Amino acid sequence: MPIFETDRPKRSRLIVTGAAGGIGQMIRGKLDHLADEVVLSDIDDVEVSGNEVSRPCDLTDLDGIRALLKGGGDVLHFGGQSMEAPFERILNSNLIGTYNLYEAARLEGVRRVFFASSNHAIGFHPREEMLDADSVTRPDTLYGVSKVYGEAMARFYYDKFGVESLILRIGSCFPKPADQRQLATWMSVDDMIRLFGRMIHAHRLGCPILYGASDNTESWWDNSKTAYLGWQPQDSSDAWRDGMPDDYWHPDEPKARYQGGIFVTYGHPGTKMPE
Ligand SMILES: NC(=O)c1ccc[n+]([C@@H]2O[C@H](COP(=O)([O-])OP(=O)(O)OC[C@H]3O[C@@H](n4cnc5c(N)ncnc54)[C@H](O)[C@@H]3O)[C@@H](O)[C@H]2O)c1
Repeated sequence: MPIFETDRPKRSRLIVTGAAGGIGQMIRGKLDHLADEVVLSDIDDVEVSGNEVSRPCDLTDLDGIRALLKGGGDVLHFGGQSMEAPFERILNSNLIGTYNLYEAARLEGVRRVFFASSNHAIGFHPREEMLDADSVTRPDTLYGVSKVYGEAMARFYYDKFGVESLILRIGSCFPKPADQRQLATWMSVDDMIRLFGRMIHAHRLGCPILYGASDNTESWWDNSKTAYLGWQPQDSSDAWRDGMPDDYWHPDEPKARYQGGIFVTYGHPGTKMPE
């Protein structure tokens, strides 16, 4: 009997954290086929239409997250600090926020979470290395460290409490690749939505780690160990290859040598947010 079966039905509710952010805004209005109701959450209210409702909530507020998840539904967890930042910000949005999300999932009986991890969890691997789901983490920033922590939290809540997660080490999910590096790391929003479908409809999910890139010719990541999900990216950065400005960095510079790009060059971000 195959592990993957497409018989888990459309969800009655899908909850999206970080809904006001870059990815949140790109996926808005494209989730109707996955759930009857899409609950959009961010710190402040977000504009809604169709089957969407807005439920603002700060990830640092466990009771608030519990109220958000009450009633169940799968969660697409995009909320959090998405760049390098002083530790205080990382601590609140990503460390405390991720714990609260998983703890609320356990307490409210949520079965499945999509965890938006990042290529910056593995950013200090050289570009010549092909990585897969079993590669060791090598974070390139405190932000990347927080994603490694989030992945461990996801795995812990699966092993101990049965909350399944799809952990996606997202490359660069933007409307189009912005530079030479992103020809390897770019992921289209439609490929991401196809992956949501595989997560939601999979009969068994488990707690797989995938790399989030489209079917780009230049590739540093191998998703064959999670082929049981049957996700096949259909888009490619190749369409932009010819028009990409030829302003690439010197190949010996750290930002060109390592998968994390410019993030590997950042200094310590400090501890406190500026007053
Ligand atoms: N965009 C990419 O290519 C990319 C690449 C790798 C990883 N990711 C991850 O995907 C997720 C979404 O990325 P994005 O580009 O949309 O980021 P973004 O910064 O545009 O959006 C993040 C959202 O999270 C919200 N948020 C932050 N702290 C919060 C808190 N304490 N409570 C509630 N909401 C809070 C913000 O208000 C914001 O709207 C992030 O976790 C990011 O680390 C994105």
